[in-house]
Amino acid sequence: MEGSPALEVVESPLGAENEIRIDEPLPDALPVLPLRETVTFPETLTPLAVGQERSIKLVDDVLGASRMLAMVAARNPENEEPGPDDLYGVGVVGVVARMLKVPDGTIRILVQGTQRVRLGPYIAEEPYLVARISELPDVVEEGPELQALSRNVQRTFSEIVEQIPYLPEELQMAVANIEDPAALGHLIASALRISTDEKQQLLEEVDVAARLRHLSQILARELEVVQLGSQIQSQVESEIDKGQREFFLRQQLKAIQEELGEGDEQQAEVNELRQRIEEANLPEHARKAADRELSRLEKLPPAAAEHGVIRTYLEWLVELPWAAHTEDNLDIAHARKVLDADHYDLEKVKDRILEYLAVRKLKPDSPGPILCFVGPPGVGKTSLGRSIARALGREFERISVGGVRDEAEIRGHRRTYIGAMPGTIIRALRDAGSHNPVFMIDEIDKMGADFRGDPSSAMLEVLDPSQNDTFRDHYLDLEFDLSDVMFIATANLLDTIPAPLQDRMETIELAGYTQDEKKHIARRYLVPRQIEENGLKPSQIEFADPALAALIEEYTREAGVRNLERQIGTVCRKVARDVAEGRSKGKARVSAKRARELLGRRRFYAEQRRRTKDPGVATGLAWTPTGGDVLFIEATAMPGSGNLTITGQLGDVMKESAQAALSYVRGHWQKLAPELGEKWFSEHEIHIHVPAGAVPKDGPSAGVAMTVALASLISGRPVRNDVAMTGEVTLTGQVLPVGGLKEKSLAAQRADIKRVIVPERNEGDIAEIPEHERSALEFLYVDKVSKAIQEALA
Ligand SMILES: Nc1ncnc2c1ncn2[C@@H]1O[C@H](COP(=O)(O)OP(=O)(O)OP(=O)(O)O)[C@@H](O)[C@H]1O
Ligand SMILES: [Mg+2]
Repeated sequence: MEGSPALEVVESPLGAENEIRIDEPLPDALPVLPLRETVTFPETLTPLAVGQERSIKLVDDVLGASRMLAMVAARNPENEEPGPDDLYGVGVVGVVARMLKVPDGTIRILVQGTQRVRLGPYIAEEPYLVARISELPDVVEEGPELQALSRNVQRTFSEIVEQIPYLPEELQMAVANIEDPAALGHLIASALRISTDEKQQLLEEVDVAARLRHLSQILARELEVVQLGSQIQSQVESEIDKGQREFFLRQQLKAIQEELGEGDEQQAEVNELRQRIEEANLPEHARKAADRELSRLEKLPPAAAEHGVIRTYLEWLVELPWAAHTEDNLDIAHARKVLDADHYDLEKVKDRILEYLAVRKLKPDSPGPILCFVGPPGVGKTSLGRSIARALGREFERISVGGVRDEAEIRGHRRTYIGAMPGTIIRALRDAGSHNPVFMIDEIDKMGADFRGDPSSAMLEVLDPSQNDTFRDHYLDLEFDLSDVMFIATANLLDTIPAPLQDRMETIELAGYTQDEKKHIARRYLVPRQIEENGLKPSQIEFADPALAALIEEYTREAGVRNLERQIGTVCRKVARDVAEGRSKGKARVSAKRARELLGRRRFYAEQRRRTKDPGVATGLAWTPTGGDVLFIEATAMPGSGNLTITGQLGDVMKESAQAALSYVRGHWQKLAPELGEKWFSEHEIHIHVPAGAVPKDGPSAGVAMTVALASLISGRPVRNDVAMTGEVTLTGQVLPVGGLKEKSLAAQRADIKRVIVPERNEGDIAEIPEHERSALEFLYVDKVSKAIQEALA
């Protein structure tokens, strides 16, 4: 109905000059206007809407006459056209003060109530009701009670008005100014929204005091309702508030930021982050943290230092592979193919990997083993890890913890540090982009510890399947599940790995390669790779077998093949240059001679030939972290007073075994060199030296070599140059078993040794070395050092 006037003044029979004559004597009878859900009161002005045909006629007729009518409430508002029985017996006489005709045919009238009357009997029902009326005046008993009641009612009512929006404030004024208790009662009763029935009761009560009493009860009740209502209201409001408050604050913030000229940019940043959080599929605990940080970020100006910190943190959160993972390829035949394609031999390791795959296939959720590859450099530990990842179809990540002394390196710094970052574990996982990569931890044996905390304890947590599902990085400060990661550690040495860490890992040893194996590896893997890496084609270069042998024997001395690969690379590079410069046409054949030309002076010699030419030098075998090595023991004698000098940076155990060796030889001089005579030892000073003095050496296993060197010295017979030896010697000449035989035998082969003297009790260890790794050697088992001397001396 917007815009069109709802009311149209058609007739205004009462001009300003026409006063309402309310003092006119009451007639006997009056037309009766039934009211629905309304009770009018004396001395009040009531607007009424009149729609029924008979009522409109009534108003018409009344307006043409005295303008007086009787108004009375109907008992039942449902009743459309109530008869005399449907109406209450008490009503109010009114004078129609104004009448408006509404376009829809109904009318509005404004009626001034005058006095209360009793209605009945009815004398007409058509065309409208007409009833006889009789006045029903108030009974007023002036006194303090009436006054008190009046005040009470006034006060309560004004309290109510203050809290109820539908009551206009002028009413409060009016009520406060009325002095007549009867009028007061009527005015308040007419203003209240209470039931028709209750209003009617108030109207019918002639005793003013009783009426006010009743009214004050009603008011008290209403006040209570109003107060309760506003209490509920304020509760509801505060609930709504929380949501709205944030909204309003955000709006305000935005306004401030816009004012500062930083709004859009920052909002865009926040929105972008919000979206990324949404897409990152965070687990619940991480999601909570992200939301919390984001709402902090939103409130910070971009210039605040904290802003960047939070931003970086959120970026870490969304970039981590919380849910991303790769499907394992559990095809065992495929895995076998991949492993073979990348590595020669290493059967034990490959078998272990395939077993792992098989178990995973049968029991997908079994926690995988944590493998630790132990062996000298360049034997393929790292590249094997890569190959495992390839076989499984997993991502590969590698970190090195060698030299790490700070726990925070592993586990990150708390965010309160400037420039804090997650630790290396979490960083690697982010790079992996999946939460189940093959994760290689290199040089776990070289981890240190100092005042900054022990990184191995953090490592312990990472590698422990029973706690790594709740790994907590200091920076993230959230749990991250590492249990799907396949960890592989590598080490050169087992000894320096803390025992608790060793305990959690399954160690697999890779000892090193024989010359023969190296040749195979070179031919099948290293040469093709280097050819390709140097931009050559297989049709442009070919390595002859003797060339590879020369590279292995003359230019490298190592357990693994890293240097060998480097030397092959050098040769390839030089050939590549020839090809590029047009000097080499067709296929370049690299013979041993050509290789030597290209690489220059040989680096290594089969030294024992030269060294052991003179008496007093024996070839020992040592186990070192880089595999095994040959070790020369040199002994000389000069005139003196029977002292023993030992040099070459030997540890205490090794010095003692030198002492023991001398004592043994001295005790057996008669058999070894009867011509010397008893006094020789007290008239000579003996010096034992182990060259390569910069390298610390220790252990008892050089005992046999020392004894043999001394025996050679005093007997003047040189040691055979194709023999090396290892074993501990007791004072009585027993030979005790030693460790590291596999590495030692490989070292012996590298040094072109043909026969190795080993303790008899190590026979089992020798048998464990694969046949092809020891076939180039002859092992001589001895239980007494006298036998070793016999075998070794020429
Ligand atoms: N059995 C093998 N078959 C083929 N290639 C091999 C084999 N063993 C080692 N290699 C190659 O030798 C090189 C050196 O290996 P890798 O880097 O894995 O050594 P590593 O054992 O990790 O040494 P480090 O202890 O020094 O880290 C690699 O290029 C690797 O492919
Ligand atoms: Mg490595």
